[in-house]
Amino acid sequence: MSVDVLLGLQWGDEGKGKIVDYLADQYHVIARFQGGPNAGHTLVIDGKKHVLHTIPSGIFRKNCINFIGNGVVIDPVTILKEIMHLQNEGVPVKERLYISKRANLILPSHKMLDAASESAKGKEKIGSTLKGIGPTYMDKTGRNGLRIGDILSSAFQENYTKLKQKHLKLLGTYDFEFDLESLEKEWFEAIDALRSYQLVEGTYFINNLIKEGKRILAEGAQGSMLDIDFGTYPYVTSSNTITAAVCTGLGVAPQKIGDVIGISKAYCTRVGSGPFPTELNDATGEELRRIGGEFGATTGRPRRCGWIDLPALKYTCILNGVTQLVITKADVMSNMEEFKVCTSYSYDDQTSEELPYDLCQTEVTPNYKSFTGWKDIGEKLPDTLDQYIKFIENYLEVPVSIVSVGPGRDELINLSMGDLIA
Ligand code: GDP
Ligand code: IMO
Ligand code: MG
Repeated sequence: MSVDVLLGLQWGDEGKGKIVDYLADQYHVIARFQGGPNAGHTLVIDGKKHVLHTIPSGIFRKNCINFIGNGVVIDPVTILKEIMHLQNEGVPVKERLYISKRANLILPSHKMLDAASESAKGKEKIGSTLKGIGPTYMDKTGRNGLRIGDILSSAFQENYTKLKQKHLKLLGTYDFEFDLESLEKEWFEAIDALRSYQLVEGTYFINNLIKEGKRILAEGAQGSMLDIDFGTYPYVTSSNTITAAVCTGLGVAPQKIGDVIGISKAYCTRVGSGPFPTELNDATGEELRRIGGEFGATTGRPRRCGWIDLPALKYTCILNGVTQLVITKADVMSNMEEFKVCTSYSYDDQTSEELPYDLCQTEVTPNYKSFTGWKDIGEKLPDTLDQYIKFIENYLEVPVSIVSVGPGRDELINLSMGDLIA
């Protein structure tokens, strides 16, 4: 049995959490493979909203194993808060959650370093969520990191202190005030609590599940345009967010990857700094933000809004080997008389459907095609929405399986008429 993948094709917040939660009843296992608590995945079940940061979005489904792979970075305090929230909702988290011992830990000092680095950047700041993601991945690749499995070792406290000392030296080079001690107590309490969870050797764990014929869905965080290698560098996150990261972030071989479900909003958003060619700094952008409730699930920051960008989506479909598309938030565009779709860019005296090497340094002008809008969406796609979906399919050369029309678990139109997975 293979591992299917669902990941964001834009700059994050495409609605991954909602769609993974919907699909989770067709899978035995939902696995996160990268990112950390910079993610905010919203699920609306029976009208109640839940935001998950580290825990996979299959946690509400009975009989679903939720696995956090080695590619994820974990803040013990955040994950424990999530666990408490879920337990209060009656979700038996301890039974359903498994964590790879190889996942790296976010220390309180990583968060301080994130904040110090951002504040030193001034106007050029990335717009990080300040969850310590960058410094933690730096320590991982610098071979200094602490991992979840290390919390079981008697040398843990000593290794923690060593790494903290390193961070304190580094923090001393910034003009930045901080108070670590107040964060450390809560952090160590959370570490203590995590010792009683199911911490596993992830490679054998996931590959045994594959061998047993279990259906596995890997849940992406962030979006492909935030990928450390292929996104709008340096305005990106610190992990690979694309399909390739499923292999390294779970420990599965490339030939085990099955369907790749790419998800995009019917328009586009971005939170934080960096290029966004189709951004609307006008009343239409504000309308999309208001109707779409476009405020960050992790930081509450207003999201920047704009038209869908098909050249960027084509790029991320290629990167990920997308086999099916999910288009979300179509309802947000209801009642627009007309809307636009970016089909090419003009830059360097040429018109192209390809992205330039560096979107940050290249002045691009998006070229748009106009579409007639739709009124309300019922059980079926209205004609004009259907035409829009067909246009996306033709441009991206990938079929659309689901059109999502509201935040609730079942507010969607399943175009594949039945099970998504073959
Ligand atoms: P994720 O990070 O990709 O999981 O997305 P977020 O949860 O950060 O942001 C998506 C937001 O849109 C959340 O508030 C969802 O509840 C909401 N949402 C998801 N799908 C739809 C949809 O089809 N229509 C509307 N109106 N809201 C949606
Ligand atoms: P989900 O999984 C949207 C953005 C931040 C910032 C940049 C770097 O909910 O889609 P970081 O904290 O990683 O150092 O921030 O990446 N970012 C996201 N934007 N959705 C996310 O996750 C994001 N995670 C990080 O806003 O611009
Ligand atoms: Mg989000």
